[in-house]
Amino acid sequence: MAFIGHQLCRAFSSSTLRSAAIKHVVIVGGGQMGAGIAQVAASTGHQVTLVDTSEAILAKGVKGIETSLKRVVKKKFADKPEAGEAFIAKVLGCVSTATDVTAVVESADLVLEAIVENLKIKQDLFSGIDKVAPEHTIFASNTSSLPIGDIASVTSRLDRFGGLHFFNPVPMMKLVEVIGTSSTSQDTFDSLVNFSKALGKTTVSCKDTPGFIVNRLLVPYMLEAVRLHERGHGSKEDIDVAMKLGAGYPMGPFELLDYVGLDTAKFILDGWSAMDADNPLFAQSPLLNKLVAEGKYGKKTGEGFYKYK
Ligand code: CAA
Ligand code: NAD
Repeated sequence: MAFIGHQLCRAFSSSTLRSAAIKHVVIVGGGQMGAGIAQVAASTGHQVTLVDTSEAILAKGVKGIETSLKRVVKKKFADKPEAGEAFIAKVLGCVSTATDVTAVVESADLVLEAIVENLKIKQDLFSGIDKVAPEHTIFASNTSSLPIGDIASVTSRLDRFGGLHFFNPVPMMKLVEVIGTSSTSQDTFDSLVNFSKALGKTTVSCKDTPGFIVNRLLVPYMLEAVRLHERGHGSKEDIDVAMKLGAGYPMGPFELLDYVGLDTAKFILDGWSAMDADNPLFAQSPLLNKLVAEGKYGKKTGEGFYKYK
């Protein structure tokens, strides 16, 4: 376990922390989403422990946080570069890393999971942590598509389990969907809303239904763009330009799929088509399947629908 400097964080947090209940957050999964959430939580004075399977992945996650922070301070401290440097040091001082989650949950107020989109793997993670985490610790999942109730079902804290669905890139996207299951207590739901607000996000309340609000609309749209292309009705470049300039989207559907991760998109689609095989919105895409089989997951692997440097 590598501690970068939680002592610095305590000094930082006294002036900026707004969420009384949740102070120490353990974030499991240091990929695109976990690192982004860690960055925003640490930037708002929370003590963060980022957990992943290897030190190398964690080092990459922390490096990504630093790179993103540099982009943030370039604007926020445009005229005060030294204050910007100090801000980055303070934020990084709030982030520690670990490879064994059970060793770091002792003082966690919230354990938020952002690991691979697979029900069994998420359940295994939470059932292990449930045995060692303190009574008061709230568990939450950042799942894109899986029922929160199914993930929570393996734990003994159904009332202290909810969904916190952030959006990519976390430092830029202003929304968090907060999901309560039929067992989530009002206290837990309120804590999750307050925590999201303390991170500077706007929240919406969601039912525990597939894809909540955003993904239930966004994922079928992106996949219909792929099917449109597969039918030969438009090049991916033209479809992207059309949706950016004709519909005002910041990214076209192919760019966004590459940004989200084609592996994640396929996990979502496979899960939904297993639940509702006859729904044409969830029909398989040969092109998506081919790219995933080739390990072309999008921006994070350097190639998806497009190539990246
Ligand atoms: N960290 C910090 N700052 C960032 C950033 C990051 N990761 N990404 C962008 N920025 C900021 C920077 O200030 C950047 O300026 P610099 O390049 O000078 O650093 C500024 O944003 C503009 O960025 P770009 O010029 O790179 O491009 P842009 O204007 O298109 O903005 C974007 C980037 C915010 C990502 C925008 O394209 C966008 O909103 N795209 C759509 C994203 C989206 O729809 N996300 C949801 C995905 S679905 C999901 O997340 C749910 C799920 O479960 C799958
Ligand atoms: P990612 O592939 O970038 O990162 C996942 C990380 O989890 C990897 O670093 C991996 O090593 C780690 N991991 C896997 N199993 C683990 C375990 N058992 N213990 C600890 N670490 C483990 O994926 P991502 O894009 O960050 O997505 C993570 C989660 O967030 C998924 O559930 C996804 O559906 C959801 N999500 C993704 C997006 C998006 O746009 N990519 C948006 C919102 C939500």
